[in-house]
Amino acid sequence: MSFDLVDLENLMVDDDFAIIHDALNHHHFVLFKKQQDPSPRAQYELTERFDPASEEYGHDKTADNYIHGYFMGIPNQPQVQIKGHGFIKSFMGLQDIKLRHPHHSRTYSEVISEDQGDDAYTRFNRWNIDAGLYDLNPPKVTTLMAVQVPKCRRQTILYDDGYGEKLTAPLNMLSPEDQEFFRTSKAEYAPHPYNWVKPAKMHPTGLSVYTEGREKPESKLPPIDPSKIQILPMAWKNPVTGKLSLQVHPAPIRKIHCADGSIIDILKEVRDLMYRLQRPAISPQYVYAHDWEEGDMVLFNNHGVSHTVVGSLKPDDIRVFRQCNLAASEPPEGP
Ligand SMILES: [Fe+2]
Repeated sequence: MSFDLVDLENLMVDDDFAIIHDALNHHHFVLFKKQQDPSPRAQYELTERFDPASEEYGHDKTADNYIHGYFMGIPNQPQVQIKGHGFIKSFMGLQDIKLRHPHHSRTYSEVISEDQGDDAYTRFNRWNIDAGLYDLNPPKVTTLMAVQVPKCRRQTILYDDGYGEKLTAPLNMLSPEDQEFFRTSKAEYAPHPYNWVKPAKMHPTGLSVYTEGREKPESKLPPIDPSKIQILPMAWKNPVTGKLSLQVHPAPIRKIHCADGSIIDILKEVRDLMYRLQRPAISPQYVYAHDWEEGDMVLFNNHGVSHTVVGSLKPDDIRVFRQCNLAASEPPEGP
């Protein structure tokens, strides 16, 4: 759903916010056009409005140092993070910053070569939910604002997973047995999940990682507090519609807790099972690829959809985005 002419700098009255809250929960994606002006404070306050008891950014900076290679907090409003690509001389109190857009060649086994047309083809980087998945609860919403985007180029996203699909541009697609499985099962995430999974190579669709024993052993991770390990429902209930979404972050999941009390803890089995359950949702007809314009402020329902970075940028492209999400004050509600 798209809104024009909304003054995000001045906090809206409760009735206005209720419309946005409703739109997000029904449509999962809300777009405000021409939002060059809102301050980082206004972006933070809009994000916080969805969960007034939340306060801190959705990732722990020390535990998730891999994630923070791509983000930088704005000095006066550290919950609003800068991400993008290229060298920026000065931006909102940050000087001489070098931003890095992830490139598929860094993390994939199946690299698209320059001969194939590295600029014409690309991959989904990594399907994800914005969530620390260790100690911190998954944020309810992410706000993402395009400050500067490179000039528009079209790239084709290759799947290369044998399903024969590519993209130039819900749960009821699963069998009743699979629906029952994810309704009643829970996902356990690795401690320090992003550090743990970082060495693993991505599957070409960005929806999984290869199981080759590359994950970091616990001895190489920061100290682990077992009480911070997250075991979350696979199905998260929408607070407005009551509908369930299959919300599993496929890269850092380590185990599946089944309804009968058994635990699937063989990593390849966990990943193969999740791939089969989640793959239908990334078929081209279910993927929305947003054509970013400067001034777009996007809100996505972090408890209802997955998302991914996409596209390959050239070394001299400049891209600047402001992103904010806040660790939720409570875990997601299951069925
Ligand atoms: Fe994300």
